Amino acid sequence: MSVKRIDHIAVVVDDIEGALNFWRDALGMDMTHMEEVAEQQSIVAFLPTGGSEIELVKPTTDSSGVAKYLAKRGPGMHHICVEVDDIHATLAQLKAKGIKLINETPTIGAGGKQIAFVHPGSTSGVLVELYQAA
Ligand code: CO
Repeated sequence: MSVKRIDHIAVVVDDIEGALNFWRDALGMDMTHMEEVAEQQSIVAFLPTGGSEIELVKPTTDSSGVAKYLAKRGPGMHHICVEVDDIHATLAQLKAKGIKLINETPTIGAGGKQIAFVHPGSTSGVLVELYQAA
């Protein structure tokens, strides 16, 4: 298995329009689409650049992991997502090496992609998302 690229960097926000005021309106990035991802209990907005994207994430419930993160720490950087060629093989390899996983099997993220999160306790404090292109 291999890591192909950084797919996106996610920023958790309590106000998408407020975040777009910086990323889109002031910095000049394009917001290509916004969607509600029921599975992740959040609305996500994407601003692509150079083969990766800034992803703005706003929780839609109070109970999701991202909602609790926002309540505890306020808006800010939330996770880094790397694209892998085989998410099942990657999860098996990490598990075999004793890495703590939040999702031991892939779940569904934005665009119907297979994703899984690695626990920050095993990554020097950075929430890492794995994603496999369809
Ligand atoms: Co993400």
